[in-house]
Amino acid sequence: MSNFSFQPPTRLTNIAPSQIRENMRIAREVGAVNLAQGRPDFATDARIKQAAIDAINNDHNQYSVTWGLAELREALSADMKTRFGYEVNAETEITITCGVTEGMNAVLLSLVEPGDEVIVVEPAHENYVPAISFAGGVPRYVTLRPPTFAFPTDELEATINERTRALILNTPHNPSGHVFTRDELKTIIDICSRHGVYIITDEIYDRLLYDGREHIMPAAIAERPELIITTAGLSKIYAATGWRLGYVLAAEPITAAIRTVHDYLTICAPTPFQHAAVTALALPQDYYDDLVAMFTDRRDRMMRILSHCGFTPYEPEGAYYLLAEFDEWNFDGGSEAFTKFLIREAKVATVPGSAFYYKDRDLGERIIRFAFAKSAELIDSIEETMRGCFDNSRSS
Ligand SMILES: Cc1ncc(COP(=O)(O)O)c(C=O)c1O
Repeated sequence: MSNFSFQPPTRLTNIAPSQIRENMRIAREVGAVNLAQGRPDFATDARIKQAAIDAINNDHNQYSVTWGLAELREALSADMKTRFGYEVNAETEITITCGVTEGMNAVLLSLVEPGDEVIVVEPAHENYVPAISFAGGVPRYVTLRPPTFAFPTDELEATINERTRALILNTPHNPSGHVFTRDELKTIIDICSRHGVYIITDEIYDRLLYDGREHIMPAAIAERPELIITTAGLSKIYAATGWRLGYVLAAEPITAAIRTVHDYLTICAPTPFQHAAVTALALPQDYYDDLVAMFTDRRDRMMRILSHCGFTPYEPEGAYYLLAEFDEWNFDGGSEAFTKFLIREAKVATVPGSAFYYKDRDLGERIIRFAFAKSAELIDSIEETMRGCFDNSRSS
């Protein structure tokens, strides 16, 4: 077996190995605090866990309807109406998927012809470009820049051409924490609609916004909502990343295509967890208020510590990541080398900005991402070593 040589197809060779997983591996080796991965550290709510246990004990252990339990689709439809005033038909316009990750793949496989272009907003969550490649599409980029990470409208106009099929839009945004404003969204929707370009949203952090901000659902403010495909999921808000539950909302003909792809990719999302998701959606407002209060505290701690340790952190408006520049450190090298240095010297694992920038790579070389889905104690525990490390770098 050792002499066996294998050449994977180009849709795989084009894809760089995940720098998040690489840094996590080194972090484990040296016992570093893991601020690389966006995995919530708190327990899934007891009510939701009990609902999953009950579903298993009540023998809901077989395939569900391919596009998801009717009860869950109805609960989602009601949730969209209550929160965003958005009407979505539970029977024909909702597909329950194995997370946003599968949802995004299913949407792209349903929309994209080989050679079609799909615009990605960089810095970008690392799953989008591989998903475009799997669908035979070609990624194009528009770039958000610090300090505001505001949407570059002119760049979008200049990037759209006759091959452009879709734009992927993530709000609240990972990794910058930017929450797109109503004006930004209206302009983006207007430009895309004019050119007949679909918008595929990723709204997985739609309940995690700070300082009284509200999530604006793009499909709910669009004049032509049929051009917007919404994805979101339960992983982050309910601390259930391992349950693999997400959903896609799209106009009926697009949903029909998505359901076909989803059927042949996975048959269905895990049935007992779909039952538990109905319970999750019925949690009272307190649950979400507590979540936001907890993450606001973590964000504020993180901002304070990083400012104290020679970073320039950009305050996130939503989600639980922040980008920080390390210009003040006396460090000769790019962001990947810097994250490796931090893991070994400060015992803190982060992700290099270069993992999120594709076109404007220089921007990614000056920043790193901290995920603050960790307890206050753990966040506080990094301050002393990090400060020491910073002082050493300045005196060397
Ligand atoms: C923006 C964004 N989208 C999607 C995902 C993955 O979602 P899921 O667990 O639903 O596949 C993540 C996870 O980090 C994310 O940050």
